[in-house]
Amino acid sequence: MRILTKEIVNKENEEVELMGWVATRRDHGKLIFIDLRDRSGISQVVFLPKPEELRQLADKLRSEWVVKIIGKVSRRPKGMENPEIETGNFEIQAEKLEILNPAEALPINIETDGYEIGEDVRMKYRYLDLRRQRLQKNFRTRAKTVKFIRDFLIEKDFVEIETPILSKSTPEGARDYLVASRLQPGKFYALPQSPQQYKQLLMVAGFERYFQIAKCFRDEDTRGDRQPEFTQLDLEMSFIEREDVLNLMEEMTVSLVKTVFPKKTISQIPFPVLTHKEAIENYGSDKPDLRKDKNNPDELAFAWIIDFPVFEKDEKTGKITYSHNPFTAPKPEFNDDLMNGRNLEKLVSQQYDLALNGFETAGGGIRINKPELLEKVFETIGYSKEHIRKDFGHILEAFKLGAPPHGGIAFGLDRLLAILQNEPNIREVIAFSKTGDGRDLMMDAPSEVDEKQLKELKLKTYGTKRI
Ligand code: AMO
Repeated sequence: MRILTKEIVNKENEEVELMGWVATRRDHGKLIFIDLRDRSGISQVVFLPKPEELRQLADKLRSEWVVKIIGKVSRRPKGMENPEIETGNFEIQAEKLEILNPAEALPINIETDGYEIGEDVRMKYRYLDLRRQRLQKNFRTRAKTVKFIRDFLIEKDFVEIETPILSKSTPEGARDYLVASRLQPGKFYALPQSPQQYKQLLMVAGFERYFQIAKCFRDEDTRGDRQPEFTQLDLEMSFIEREDVLNLMEEMTVSLVKTVFPKKTISQIPFPVLTHKEAIENYGSDKPDLRKDKNNPDELAFAWIIDFPVFEKDEKTGKITYSHNPFTAPKPEFNDDLMNGRNLEKLVSQQYDLALNGFETAGGGIRINKPELLEKVFETIGYSKEHIRKDFGHILEAFKLGAPPHGGIAFGLDRLLAILQNEPNIREVIAFSKTGDGRDLMMDAPSEVDEKQLKELKLKTYGTKRI
């Protein structure tokens, strides 16, 4: 029966069976050493000059061949131990070798941390890139983080609910990805920029506490902290006030760090709270970096930013637009001004963000649950009655059918993980990420499709010509 390499430390003098990849092979004349890698780590296997047949087979081994080895675990001779690896006091004296699959020379080096390799080739061979230790660790830690969050929220009576990917446009401020409908020719689904409307409708549905590890899609230019496809921890609660959301999220974040990232220190608990105005005036940013020592990679400076404006002026068009999303409620004392169209740029909302080391890691708010207020926000940003009815009729109607007061938040899970794992770019924590220009180089997506598929969708393309 196969065991993992890390288990050999408890199997001295026993015969064991291992399977994995040849990480390195060293030919020392008399002896051939290989480092065998599996998901648990590495262990050293030794091939002696005899039996000859085994030795000849071992001679063929090259890096990244997939092998099965049977052998006896023994203590390494004095002075030959390797304290750098967990199994470094032991080795396996090979007795049988089976080559499960040979491999050609790899197109990229996977022994280093990989930062020195160009993005294009890393992404083309992402399945090899992911073999490197750094990325193996990132994704194991990502899985632990998601498990921690799930356990924490379910314990607090949250229900995990999936919401659709084929959906309708919901305004989060980016462009939508569209999917053509075959059964409704000429019509399109939009991929969700976030589950915002669905989670609010789940509050109308009476769940009171919802969460989801949700895929979100935004057709915007990719940056170090931005991908066209990313993951949010999305949640919403009913019958709560702003402080309830902030306190719960602070409790979750602090215990996540303590449990999964114990090396990290949080600069200040409770997290400091700054108004948007204070953040801009004192730090020139609505996501200030409050670390005491910006060179210390293990310091985490969280800060809540509150009291964002409801509206802002679009610099390009000069038009008034929402500052977060149109569903965020103004503070109650500003409802009158909103309804009467007064002091629009001075209205303060119940939006909050969580800044961490100079990045926005989460954003949310207490929502509007009154249809007339929501309608007024849409009118204020210039939507016609017809546009409002067509695009938001469903949620306005829901708000007339017993909508509880509610609010929530969404963490950019990739962003949070990148910071917690000291990664400079979120693609280091996204298994199959896109390049700066939005391509998946491994799968070669986006790509052309068959004429037949387009016909079925009643679509025509103009190729790559700009029109
Ligand atoms: P918002 O648009 O602020 O709010 O998004 C929430 C968090 O998601 C992360 N994020 C991204 N991460 C990677 N790539 C991107 N392109 C990207 N865009 C956003 C950020 C951000 O703080 N529906 C609201 C949430 C709510 O109000 O509850 C929303 O999506 O870390």
